[in-house]
Amino acid sequence: MSTIIAALKESGDENRVAITPDVASKLIHSKFEVMVERGAGQNAYFSDQAYQDAGAQVVSRDDAVSQANVIATVDLPDSETLGKLHEGQILIGLLKALTDLDSIRQLAKQKVTALSFELLPRTISRAQGMDVLSSQASIAGYKAALVAADKFARYFPMMITAAGTAKPAKVLVLGTGVAGLQAIGTAKRLGAIVSGYDVRPASRGEVESLGAEFLTSSVSAVGEGGYARQLSADEQKQQQDELIGFIKQNDIVITTAQVPGKKPPMLVPQAAVDNAKPGSVFVDLAASDLGGNVAGSRPDQTVVTDSGVQLIGAGNLASEMATSASEMFSKNVQAVINDVADKDAQITIDLKDDVMSQLVATDHGEIISERVRKALNLPTAQPAKDDDAPADSDDKSAEKGD
Ligand code: NAI
Repeated sequence: MSTIIAALKESGDENRVAITPDVASKLIHSKFEVMVERGAGQNAYFSDQAYQDAGAQVVSRDDAVSQANVIATVDLPDSETLGKLHEGQILIGLLKALTDLDSIRQLAKQKVTALSFELLPRTISRAQGMDVLSSQASIAGYKAALVAADKFARYFPMMITAAGTAKPAKVLVLGTGVAGLQAIGTAKRLGAIVSGYDVRPASRGEVESLGAEFLTSSVSAVGEGGYARQLSADEQKQQQDELIGFIKQNDIVITTAQVPGKKPPMLVPQAAVDNAKPGSVFVDLAASDLGGNVAGSRPDQTVVTDSGVQLIGAGNLASEMATSASEMFSKNVQAVINDVADKDAQITIDLKDDVMSQLVATDHGEIISERVRKALNLPTAQPAKDDDAPADSDDKSAEKGD
C-alpha cells in the first residue's frame, strides 16, 4: 500500500503551506500518494489546480486527517485537528515542541509520531537540507530589512542630489544568527551603515565578512549546540546598560535574539525606546506570545510611541513571503521524508539515528526527545532495549502521554 502524505491548510494568519505542487510532484514520482486540503496553498499562490496538475488529490480536511500516514504542517494544527490524529500517524512541522508542552503530551498520548523542526540538530551536515529554522529565519531577516526601509521616513543610502545630500541610515542588528546576518546583508545592499551585536563571540567574523561593524559585548553567553544560553539577571542588566548607548546612535534597530524554548531576552529596555530619535524604527523578530526583544513591542502589531518611534512586532515575517518560504519549507519536509523512506516509499524511523533521535518528539506513546524531557522535568530516557520494550515499563523513567 502506498504511503499517503498530506498537507493541511494552515489556520489564522499563516500564509505558508508545508508542501508545494513542485514537491508534491516529486513525492508522487517517488511512489508516495499526496493529498492536499482544499485551499491549502491559496495564500502562498499555489492553486488547487496546480496541485491536481502535479498529481495530488485535493480533499477535505477530514479526509486528509483520517487517511494520511504522514501529515505535514507549518504550524501546530488547532486542537480539534490534533484530537483527530490517530495512532501511528506521523506529524511533521514547527510543532512548538519546547514551548507548547501540553500539545506534545497530547500527541504522545494519542501515539502520534511527532517530528518537530525546532528539535532538529543543526550542525550535523546531513540535517542541513531539513533545517526549517534556518530557511525561514533567512527569509525573515531579509524581509525585516525591507520592512524597516519601508517604514523609515528617510533614505537608507547616502544620496547626493542637486537639492542636497542625504545622510545614510544607521542600522543596528541585535542577534547575528541566521536571520540577523541576512538582515545585515540586505541593509548593506540597500546602502545603510550597518553594525551587528551578539553574545556569541564566534559571530564577529560572520558580521565582519558582510562588511558590517561588530559591536563587542562584555557579556559572552555561548550555550549548547551553537546557540546562545539564557543570561543571568545580572548579565542581562549589564547587557541592557551597554546596549542603550549603541541603540541611541542608530536609526533602525532589527532584533532577532532567541534562546530555544525560553522567553526571548529583553535587549531594548524601555529607557532605550524612550531615548531613541523620533522616526526611529525597531523591528522585533522575536515578538511572540512568549515576549520579545523590544520593550513595548506587540506580536504582529506596530506600536507608535508618543515620541514617534515605531515598534514593529514581526515574529512571523516568513509568512509574508509565503511563496518563497513555502518552497523552502517544503524542500525541508521532502528532505526529512527522503531520509526515512525506502525505494518503495515505505517509512521507517530509526530512533537510534543521530538526526531522528533528536527530531522526533514523541513516538509510540513516549516522549523521545531529551530536550522536551528536560523541559518537562522528566529524567533522561533509558537507551532503547534490544527487545524494544518501553524504557519506562516499571518506573517513571519515560513519560507516557497520559
Ligand atoms: P537563534 O534564532 O536561536 O538566535 C538568534 C541570534 O540571537 C543568535 O545568534 C544568538 O546568539 C543571539 N542571541 C541570543 N541571546 C542573545 C542575547 N542575550 N544578546 C544578543 N544576542 C543573543 O539563532 P539561529 O539564527 O537559529 O542560530 C543559532 C546558531 O546556530 C548560530 O551559531 C548559527 O550560526 C548556528 N547554525 C549553524 C548551522 C550549521 O552549522 N549548519 C545551521 C544554522 C544555524
